[in-house]
Formats: sequence, structure tokens, C-alpha cells
Amino acid sequence: MRTQHMKMDALTLRDRIARLDLSGIDFGAFRSQPVSPAGIRVLRYIHDVEFHTVCYLRDLLMTSAHKDPDITSFLTFWNFEEYWHGEAIARVLSAHGEKADTERVSAMRARLKVKDRISPLLHGVGSLVAGESWTALHMTWGAVNEWTTQAAYGRLIAAEHHPVLGDLLHRIMRQEGRHIDFYASEAGRRLESSTRAQKMTRLALRKFWKPVGAGVMPEPELAHLTRYLFADEDGRKVAARVDRHIDRLPGLSGLHLLEGSVDMYAAA
Ligand SMILES: [Fe+2]
Ligand SMILES: [Fe+2]
Repeated sequence: MRTQHMKMDALTLRDRIARLDLSGIDFGAFRSQPVSPAGIRVLRYIHDVEFHTVCYLRDLLMTSAHKDPDITSFLTFWNFEEYWHGEAIARVLSAHGEKADTERVSAMRARLKVKDRISPLLHGVGSLVAGESWTALHMTWGAVNEWTTQAAYGRLIAAEHHPVLGDLLHRIMRQEGRHIDFYASEAGRRLESSTRAQKMTRLALRKFWKPVGAGVMPEPELAHLTRYLFADEDGRKVAARVDRHIDRLPGLSGLHLLEGSVDMYAAA
């Protein structure tokens, strides 16, 4: 089964890569029209996870993915764009008098314990054992996370009805769309050519997948994000749509990852 995502190679992305364009975004407007407290709590989560991209990159480079120059080029651009997403959200938080940027990121990294320290080791060993299938898994995992992130931004826009926030998040979503295209096309191609990769990826997603950020953010924060963005009827529809994207990847139909996660965290 073919995926329905456009082919996005690293060189195409290289020509489009850009620091997020903030021209015309009036951060001062948040003083007279602030984002709701529930929305700010979601933005704190997103801020920390966007800034964590470089640490996910650290783990990825421990794997066979680093042998593929197309992937390493993509990861370079991806990491750059995600950094500027973090910076943009930081400016929204700062406009609300919230801690942001280095101050929040340092505090978050200080929270991480041994699991974070051994993570590169586990990725390296996993990749040694699984070989190329591990890269297929990573590309799939990346696609799922990017789909989820984009869905979360879309839901936050709908929840807040804030013109400035909406404009900013739409700009971020456009870049996330290109990340999706790369990860999903790499995942589709790699899964299609290997039944072993399909089986391993399916098993790993089913057993270990959690929404992006779950490994580094406190569970009540993920539960809040899930409740605020995905627990109502529209939110569940969006979660189901992400699951349908995953269903279209070779060997991955019927996992219901997002819907399962909404059921689990929204009840937490
Ligand atoms: Fe991002
Ligand atoms: Fe992204």
C-alpha cells in the first residue's frame, strides 16, 4: 500500500529551510488579549518539546540513520527549524510574563535523570541489533510525532481563537508539514521494502509509542494537553485522522495510537 504523502527529499527541504518568519507578528497584542491559562499550559509543553529536538537528534545520530547522507541533511534542517519554533513559542510565553527559553530549558534538562543518560546507548545498541529496520522505525516514529504535533497546533488554534497566536501557529504548521512529508515518505519507502522492518516497527509502536514529549514531560502536563486539545468530539476526529495516516503506512494499519492515547490520558 502506498503512502499518500508527497515525496520530500532533503535537497528540496534545503531550498526551503528558513528561520520561522515572525514578520508582522504582534507579540505585544498578548498583553491586552492573553491566551487562556489552559492554552498557556499547553504552550509550555510545546515550548519544552520543540527545544528538546536537539536531544532527540543526539539519539538518532547514534543509530544507522547517521550513515544515510539524505537523512543527516534532513535532520540538520529539521533541528534548525524546530529550534526556531521553540524560540517563537518562547516569545509568546515571555509576553505573558512566563519563564521561557534558556531558563525553562535548563530547568527541564536538570529534571532528566538516568533514562535520559542511557538513551543514546540504547539507541546505539538497538540499531546494531536491528540494522536498517531501526532506521525505518525511526522514520516512522518521526512521521507519527510530526503528525501529532501538527494536529496539536491545529487544535490549539481552534481552542484559542486568537488571531495573533493563530497566525503564528499556522506558520509553524506549514514547516511541520514539510517535516511530515520527509519522514512519511522515508518511512513508507523503507517499510514497503522490508517485511522485517514492518513487523519490528509495528511491534515497537504498539508496545512503546507515547505522544511526543511523554518521555521528558511530567504526565499531568500531557494529560492536560490531551484533555484540552483532543478529548472533545472535534479533537477525537483529529486524532482519528492522524491514525488514518498511520494506517496507510505499509504494515501499520489498525494501531489506533492517537485514539488510544486520547482515551488513556484524557481519563488521567
Ligand atoms: Fe516544531
Ligand atoms: Fe516538526
